[in-house]
Amino acid sequence: MSRNISLLSGKKDDKNSLFGKISVSPNDTSDAQLAGEYNLGVSTIHSTKSFYDFLNEDFKNKKAYVCTGSACMCRGTQEDVTQKLKNKLGEDSVGEMICLGRCYENSAFYYDGENYSGDDINQLDNILAGKHKSLPYTMKSYSETSFLVENEVFSSFEDFKELLQNCFETDKDELINTLKDSGLRGRGGAGFPTGMKWEFCKAQEAKAKYVVCNADEGDPGAYSDRYLLEEQALKVLFGMVVCGYIIGSKQGFMYIRGEYPESIDITNEALAKLRELGLLGENILGSGFDFDMNVVEGQGAYICGEETALIASIEGRRAEVDVRPPFPVVEGLYKKPTVVNNVESLAAVAAILKNGSKSYKSIGNGRSLGTKLISLDGFFNNPGLYEVDLGTSLEFIIDEIGGGFNADIKAIQIGGPLGGIVPVDKLKSLKLDFEVFAEAGFLLGHASFVCIPKSFSAVEYAKHLFAFTAHESCGKCFPCRLGSTRGKEMLGSAIDNNQKFSEELIYDLLETMEVGSLCALGGGLPLAIKNLLEHCSDEFKPLMEK
Ligand SMILES: Cc1cc2nc3c(=O)[nH]c(=O)nc-3n(C[C@H](O)[C@H](O)[C@H](O)COP(=O)(O)O)c2cc1C
Ligand code: SF4
Repeated sequence: MSRNISLLSGKKDDKNSLFGKISVSPNDTSDAQLAGEYNLGVSTIHSTKSFYDFLNEDFKNKKAYVCTGSACMCRGTQEDVTQKLKNKLGEDSVGEMICLGRCYENSAFYYDGENYSGDDINQLDNILAGKHKSLPYTMKSYSETSFLVENEVFSSFEDFKELLQNCFETDKDELINTLKDSGLRGRGGAGFPTGMKWEFCKAQEAKAKYVVCNADEGDPGAYSDRYLLEEQALKVLFGMVVCGYIIGSKQGFMYIRGEYPESIDITNEALAKLRELGLLGENILGSGFDFDMNVVEGQGAYICGEETALIASIEGRRAEVDVRPPFPVVEGLYKKPTVVNNVESLAAVAAILKNGSKSYKSIGNGRSLGTKLISLDGFFNNPGLYEVDLGTSLEFIIDEIGGGFNADIKAIQIGGPLGGIVPVDKLKSLKLDFEVFAEAGFLLGHASFVCIPKSFSAVEYAKHLFAFTAHESCGKCFPCRLGSTRGKEMLGSAIDNNQKFSEELIYDLLETMEVGSLCALGGGLPLAIKNLLEHCSDEFKPLMEK
């Protein structure tokens, strides 16, 4: 059935995408019309619509949304923000969004198509009058050779044109070999070599192929993809175009989460300018290569960051994770070969092709090569977005880049809700390296740093992670769907009613999730919970029984 939906949905051009239409369909009558137009059952439209937070009627009726991400929660700023918004906009007018990527100063909220943070909440009258903008945050490269942050190598439309022209004059296999030789691995989580992914897709025989940029950065604490879209859009878009050229695709999709309205606007502006300059569209630079892309706005579902759920989302299906194989490079969007790449992976391509593979692979160690963006939260004295060489010690990151902490910290969650939780005494033995993290029992992920202060309960943090997973689970497999809810309930009863929970039961639950979940949402959560149980055992013990 879902195969049929993919094929029917793929018959429409991207301007008439099913997902786009469902996202703006206001009521049951228009849902039924849509079903007729796409030859689908109304239940299919409803199953998609009911999946997303942003398409829920209650959600839509709010005027402002308070960030409920991990960093804002740990900083304890959101009660005050919520109250101030309610005082101004009305008791029932304030909803929630999960992480607005403002973790460097917290107090984050969304109002009327823009995000705010820090002291902005005290400027509400000016915000309502359209007279206030947020202050910029720190963005800096600590790498000797910057691939992502500095602008010398690639930043202007002229650079875009020149490098694209060079690519058109270079053999496609040579371009792939440069990427493979550079050692660039996907930054979205799985770490698959980018050049190899493009090579596999290029080798597929198909009438149509697609390139998808995964800009659904949902990990609370991470704002590196947001940074790239808003400050380095041309690097990301160049990666998309050159990928399309190499694999033989004419169409790309920028799937950007709806929680990042500024990223969506800036990307759309850059796309319009590229079209105007003839760097997108038909016969680009007289090469005979046609390529265009458009933005797909996410509607508030973390799981759409998982590539098969993301594909389902673009197609207008309910965004449930699909079993792989087939992998997207063989059968992806609309059942056609598709490259799905993370924003940061795509952004690195321009400087690698310009500087050559050696400049990239000379940084880092083993399989963790090149540079990496890190997002530091508001518990650092120098919060912000930084580019660092892989292999940099966490000691340098914390003390020199971050300037140390401004509160007593007991642990840091690195790499999002599915990343590990590293206790402070282990931090300085680690390096920013995918393998070093994995060997130590943690996960580097997107390298976002969310500090957990000593004043914040570890049990409360564990409940927050279970609750996050329960809310974001796509529901396909029961260990994740039920396990996360059960975990939230167990810890909730312990916190609220002092009801002890069984140690054996919680480990049993975690093992069931770990081995029985289809994707890394249900399967990855246990790592963080186990880290907390082990490293903060003094906080859990009084609430557990044998
Ligand atoms: C629960 C879950 C959430 C994910 N979220 C993201 C995300 O926000 N951004 C991303 O690029 N990849 C995310 N991924 C990984 C993607 O499935 C996929 O591996 C990635 O986009 C491939 O791009 P890359 O090869 O450039 O890393 C997620 C995976 C899982 C299991
Ligand atoms: S682990 Fe959770 S999110 Fe992943 S497929 Fe199963 S139910 Fe869906």
